Amino acid sequence: MKGFTLWFTGLPCSGKTTLAREVEGIMLERGVRVEVLDGDEIRENLSKGLTFSREDRNTNIRRIGWVSKLLARNGVVCIVAAVSPYRDIRREVREWHERFIQVYLRAPLEVLKKRDVKGMYKKAMAGEIKNFTGISDPYEEPENAEVVIDTDLDTVEISVDRVIRTLEMIDYIPHGETVGDYSEEEEAKIKARLKDLGYI
Ligand SMILES: Nc1ncnc2c1ncn2[C@@H]1O[C@H](COP(=O)(O)OP(=O)(O)OP(=O)(O)O)[C@@H](O)[C@H]1O
Ligand SMILES: [Mg+2]
Repeated sequence: MKGFTLWFTGLPCSGKTTLAREVEGIMLERGVRVEVLDGDEIRENLSKGLTFSREDRNTNIRRIGWVSKLLARNGVVCIVAAVSPYRDIRREVREWHERFIQVYLRAPLEVLKKRDVKGMYKKAMAGEIKNFTGISDPYEEPENAEVVIDTDLDTVEISVDRVIRTLEMIDYIPHGETVGDYSEEEEAKIKARLKDLGYI
């Protein structure tokens, strides 16, 4: 099997880590060699000491992109979960890859503020954290993501299915049994998207 990078982008609390870990689990069950690069973990090691300025954010994403490229070209599926707010750097990193699938996790800010898994939105809104994406720092929406998920509308299960089915349809991963109650309408939606982007 050829490697590739599966890149989750979206605002804080949009579901990147949750979906990355779920998708990783399914891949492991199918015998796929997989590695997850999670933004939070990367900032504790590979990118330790970097700030959240635009420049440092770009450095962080370039580092993650560099590692994911190396893994992907050696037959690993590299799953990235990082806010990655800037379009030009996401594009740059995509260009380094032979095979790159971007998943945009979309949700209204109001929903994300309510989720506030780590209590960061609260702090950011109180002015305790500077440069917090969505509150005091920009997020540039992707225009050409292979998969777009409205995580305020779709459950985790449906979202995972959407990603897995997309990868199956373009033969990036071995086929398996689909989980959950996955509909024909859902299937048609994925096909339409992949056709638009020239994959099938
Ligand atoms: N469709 C969905 N996909 C993913 N997560 C969802 C979905 N619906 C609800 N959630 C919930 O949203 C929360 C997302 O939190 P998670 O830590 O995965 O976000 P994140 O994007 O990694 O945030 P951060 O950028 O702060 O690391 C979880 O509590 C998850 O259960
Ligand atoms: Mg996370």
